[in-house]
Amino acid sequence: MVSKTRIAVLVSGGGTNLQALLDAQKGGKLPDGEIVLVVASNPKAYAITRAQQAGVPAVVCSRKALGSQGAFETAISQALADHGVELIVLAGFMSILSEAFTSRWPRRILNVHPSLIPAFCGKGYYGLKVHQAALDYGVKVTGATVHFVNEVPDGGEILLQKAVDVLPGDTPEVLQRRVMEQAEWILLPQATQMISEEIRREKDQ
Ligand code: GAR
Repeated sequence: MVSKTRIAVLVSGGGTNLQALLDAQKGGKLPDGEIVLVVASNPKAYAITRAQQAGVPAVVCSRKALGSQGAFETAISQALADHGVELIVLAGFMSILSEAFTSRWPRRILNVHPSLIPAFCGKGYYGLKVHQAALDYGVKVTGATVHFVNEVPDGGEILLQKAVDVLPGDTPEVLQRRVMEQAEWILLPQATQMISEEIRREKDQ
């Protein structure tokens, strides 16, 4: 049997989606993948602590500290190569990756976005801003999407989506939490397993 798909999770903040992936792995729900690396774009990300607690190596690649997009992406690529990564999962990763980077990983980068794409997505829509925009518009249903990453922000092929109700009195924070609990933390491990299995099967051929 060929080895499990080697996964890197890229993070910037609290890392609750990283935690969902680590918990899925621990609970046997990621049988075809192994999280071998966490890359944080922000040295203060709590996600780094989560990685350490799970015994997963974490490296910091800060766009600001590295000075240019090219140096930033070179540092990430080096870390991925050092750990033999085969699948990249963006879990609350707030830095943009250029086409030079994404084109080297076709159908091998996943992202979770906290809305039902094509609503409330693209440049400028990240984190709480997405939920603020949904509340401002007045939609009654929102949700989360897991999609492949290409050169268009939030524009790659959709893998999974799940709808979540917007309720009277919701604040961006309350809505974010509901979307995470009811959609993101379920969909991201599912999609990661789906693609890990696909990659493992390809290696077996
Ligand atoms: C999540 O809601 C994720 O979907 C979103 O940021 C949050 C990160 O939380 N990502 C984006 O908005 C990307 N465009 P986490 O660090 O606790 O996983």
